[in-house]
Amino acid sequence: MIVLGIETSCDETAVAVVEDDLIRSNLITAQIEIHRPFGGVVPELASRAHLRALNRGIAQATDAALINLRDIDAVAVTIGPGLIGALLVGVSAAKALALALDIPLIGVNHLEGHVESAFLERPELEPPVLALIVSGGHTMIVEMPEHGRFQILGSTIDDAAGEAFDKIARFMGLPFPGGPEIDRLARDGNPKSIRFPRAMLDDESYDFSMSGLKTAVIRWMREQQAGGHDFDPADVAASFQEAIVDVQVSKTIRAAQERGHRTIVVAGGVAANSRLRERMSAAGEENGFDVVVPSLQLCTDNGAMIAAAGMRRLANGESTPLDAAPNPNLALA
Ligand code: KG4
Ligand code: ZN
Repeated sequence: MIVLGIETSCDETAVAVVEDDLIRSNLITAQIEIHRPFGGVVPELASRAHLRALNRGIAQATDAALINLRDIDAVAVTIGPGLIGALLVGVSAAKALALALDIPLIGVNHLEGHVESAFLERPELEPPVLALIVSGGHTMIVEMPEHGRFQILGSTIDDAAGEAFDKIARFMGLPFPGGPEIDRLARDGNPKSIRFPRAMLDDESYDFSMSGLKTAVIRWMREQQAGGHDFDPADVAASFQEAIVDVQVSKTIRAAQERGHRTIVVAGGVAANSRLRERMSAAGEENGFDVVVPSLQLCTDNGAMIAAAGMRRLANGESTPLDAAPNPNLALA
C-alpha cells in the first residue's frame, strides 16, 4: 500500500511517500529563513509559506518516489495539534487530492506521527511501548499499548522542552531555532560547570516543568554580567542541556520500570538532541530497556511519520470524512 503523507502543522512543509514500511521519499521545505528575523515561528507567515511550497512539495515527493499521483492508495495529513492556518493548508490540499483521486483521507495526530517514526525506523518493533515525546510544543510520557491507542502518564505543566531550548538560545543571542544551536555549543562546554535546578526530579508524578530552570539560567547569566564576571556560553549551554536531559532520562526510565515496559521510544524534534540520544541509550543499556531513537530526519517534523501513522489507521479500517476540520488543540488520548 502506498500512502502520501502531508505535514504542515508548524514551520516545515513536509511531504513523503511511504510504501508499507519503506520510505520512498521524504522531502521537507523548511521555513527557517523566513522566521529567523523574528526569533520564532510567525503563524501567518508559516501558512503563506506552506501555500507556496505544498504543491511543488507533493510533485517532488511523488517524482522522487518514482510514482504518479494515481499510484497513491490513501492520503494522510496532520489534522492537529498545530497552528490552525498552517494545518488548514495541508488539510485542504489532502482533501482535494482524496476527492480528485477517489482515495481515503486519513487525518493524523501529529504526536502519534512522532511515535510512529520509531516503527518506521525499526519495522520489526511491536507495541506496547513507552514513549517520551519531546518537541517544540509538547513534552510528555505516554504509553502506547497498541497502534493508535495512547495513555498519557505525564506532561509539562508549563513550557515544552523545545520551547525551553529555543527561549534560552534566544536569550543567549543564538539564532532560531535554538535547540540545535544549544546542542552544538554544548559540545564545547562542561555540563557539570553550573548546577542548574532539576525541576520535579524527585516528584512522584511523571510531569515536567521547565519554567524554574529557564528562570535560573537567565538569572545566572544576568548575575555574571552584572558582576562583571566572564563566563563561557558553552558551559551555560552544556549545563542547561544536562539539567533538562537528566530529568527526562530519569523520569522516562522510572516510568518504564514502574509500568513494566521493555521498549522505550524517544520521539519529537528534541529527540534530535545529541546529549539526550546518548544519555537515553546509555540508560536503556544500563537498565535493560530497548531504547529506540529514530534517525535525525525522522525526529524533527516530517511527512513519512504522518504517512506511517495514516497507514496503520487505514489498516484498522479507519478513514476521515472530507468535511473534517483541523483541530489546533487535538488531544492524543
Ligand atoms: O517536533 P518538532 O520538529 O516540531 C514540533 O512539533 O514542535 O520540534 C521542534 C523543536 C524546536 O523547539 C527545536 O529547537 C527542537 O525541536 N530541536 C532540538 C534539536 N533539534 C530540534 N532541541 C534540542 N536539540 C536539538 N538538536
Ligand atoms: Zn513535531
